[in-house]
Amino acid sequence: MVGQGQLRGVVALDGPAGTGKSTVAKRLAMALDARYLDTGSMYRAITVAVLRAGVDPTDPGKVAEIADGAKLVVGTDPEKPGITLDGDDVSVEIRGPEVTLAVSPVSATAHVRELLVAQQRAIIADAVDNVGGIVVEGRDIGTVVSPDAPLKVYLTASEDARARRRTKQDSAAGRESTLDAVLKDVQRRDNYDSSRAVSPLKAAADAVEVDTTDLDLAGTVDALLDLVERRGLRVTG
Ligand code: DC
Repeated sequence: MVGQGQLRGVVALDGPAGTGKSTVAKRLAMALDARYLDTGSMYRAITVAVLRAGVDPTDPGKVAEIADGAKLVVGTDPEKPGITLDGDDVSVEIRGPEVTLAVSPVSATAHVRELLVAQQRAIIADAVDNVGGIVVEGRDIGTVVSPDAPLKVYLTASEDARARRRTKQDSAAGRESTLDAVLKDVQRRDNYDSSRAVSPLKAAADAVEVDTTDLDLAGTVDALLDLVERRGLRVTG
């Protein structure tokens, strides 16, 4: 029997940093009693392993070795996702500035992507079998991880809006940052993520683009719920 959730299948949610993707994906999953997967947290957790080992994040051979030896367990409850690395809860550490700085080269390592995409597909298959549906957020979900997803959404927002949101998130989490520094970091990561050779950030040809510059959180979630309904992916009763 397929589980108790209201969502049937996979919602792939891609887009650059600061579009509100994580919050939107979690809220959408909660509204549909679905599972939730933050694939960026997995690249970040491997980056923690790389930094802990004192390895250069731009050395693909060494990074691959660390990734092979790292054991990730990723939570898929949208209320409290969480992630452990070798049994250690790294949910807070993965959001720190050292990790944010080093994650781009780590996520551009072909072997890391191969490993993590395989794990992501297994998590997605398990959620669909056991609960019915899952909202998956990242950069390559609609293009690589789940190209058959029945709904693909590509979230965008102006650079300025994205930098403002990131700065707000940082100060809410007690991390020091300035708008200027965050804007530079957003541009640096966009550049890196869009120009890397393996799975660059880009919208799938059949993705629905949703611009969140002038939408608040509730407005964005409503727009996505509407798409889910119109695709016939929501079961009720
Ligand atoms: O969404 P985020 O900022 O937590 O993602 C962290 C980094 O991981 C980001 O620089 C891009 C990369 N990433 C990726 O390459 N592919 C994904 N599916 C998710 C994230």
